Amino acid sequence: MPPARTPASPGAPRAAADAPWPGAAAPGGTAPVLCGLGSWLPPRRVGNDELSRELDTSDEWIRSRTGIGHRHVADAATATSDLAVEAGRRALKSAGTERVDAVVLATTTPDRPCPATAPLVAAQLGLGTVPAFDVGAVCTGFLYALAAGSGLIALGTARRVLVIGADKYSGILDPRDRSTRVIFGDGAGAVVLRAGDPAEPGALGPPLLGSDGTGADLVAIRSGGSREPLREAADGAADPYFRMDGRTVFRRAVERMADTSLAAAERAGWAAGDIDRLVAHQANLRILHAVADRMRLPRDRCAVHLDQVGNTAAASIPLALAHAVAGGRLAAGHRTVLTAFGGGLTWGACALHWPELTPV
Ligand code: COA
Repeated sequence: MPPARTPASPGAPRAAADAPWPGAAAPGGTAPVLCGLGSWLPPRRVGNDELSRELDTSDEWIRSRTGIGHRHVADAATATSDLAVEAGRRALKSAGTERVDAVVLATTTPDRPCPATAPLVAAQLGLGTVPAFDVGAVCTGFLYALAAGSGLIALGTARRVLVIGADKYSGILDPRDRSTRVIFGDGAGAVVLRAGDPAEPGALGPPLLGSDGTGADLVAIRSGGSREPLREAADGAADPYFRMDGRTVFRRAVERMADTSLAAAERAGWAAGDIDRLVAHQANLRILHAVADRMRLPRDRCAVHLDQVGNTAAASIPLALAHAVAGGRLAAGHRTVLTAFGGGLTWGACALHWPELTPV
């Protein structure tokens, strides 16, 4: 249950010991509070058997090595912004608002390399001329975007922020690469943050974030950037596809997500066993279990959604949240830790008491 606290009257000074998140600004309602949740999956569902007809793989291999049974794949006419708009619209409805003061979009698959996709999404949602920008942290993107949105609220730039994670990986995977094709799926999820009190359910603890650029080659699209422009690799040596050293990433993902989740819980004043729900980036069921084991957390406290959608990159956490709430596995008052790991390398975690809300 959320801590039983009496909200301070507006403007009343708050004792430092009364603020559950050290460092959170107490007076003035500048804590980011999660108050809406929406999600969207493209309708086409692709099962393991369908992929097995195209690639040298099998349902048995995919299920036993990853836990994935299906993923959703967008059609050629659908861009990341289309997925983001659908999820964003639903998050606004869930929050009971039509207006926000800013849009932050986490994605690795923008509609185009330039400009950012977020302004287009804001325009299509009818949000006027609000600030809107993209955040690139691959599979950790949603947590980085939450941090950016929280910063806009803490600084007074915005009172309400729409934070979206959306990716269309089907557009960047090598159709012949069985090691990535079976893992990734398309989708989008979004939350609304509003300025509130740090003691409220839904108030985010400080996102704890990290990066290690020495691992930049482990998850990468080699060609098409300033290091190796596509036009200079016209001899056929260009590689425009997403590549991943899965085995190395696996180990690092477990260590970083477990350790950062424990740190985020500690900042909230929780021991590992106090965590009711761990909503981790949905990369691989074996990773989820290994993270729980390293944290000494019962495995059944992990939200599991990847069996139905695969790894949806920046959309993974909000999609898993929506699925867990809809299935009754995540409820108001649950001590919840969100965590992710991805290319960059990047990672992060964030703690909150889950609020009362209805995902759309
Ligand atoms: N079907 C059948 N065999 C496959 C396969 C597939 N879809 N994909 C790979 N293989 C093969 C490999 O070729 C390899 O064969 P070899 O031993 O003859 O070389 C064998 O299976 C094992 O490959 P490996 O990569 O070691 O498998 P793995 O057990 O590590 O599982 C991943 C691969 C990608 C599922 C796993 O490493 C993983 O989930 N990594 C982390 C991903 C992640 O966290 N991403 C987050 C950031 S984006």
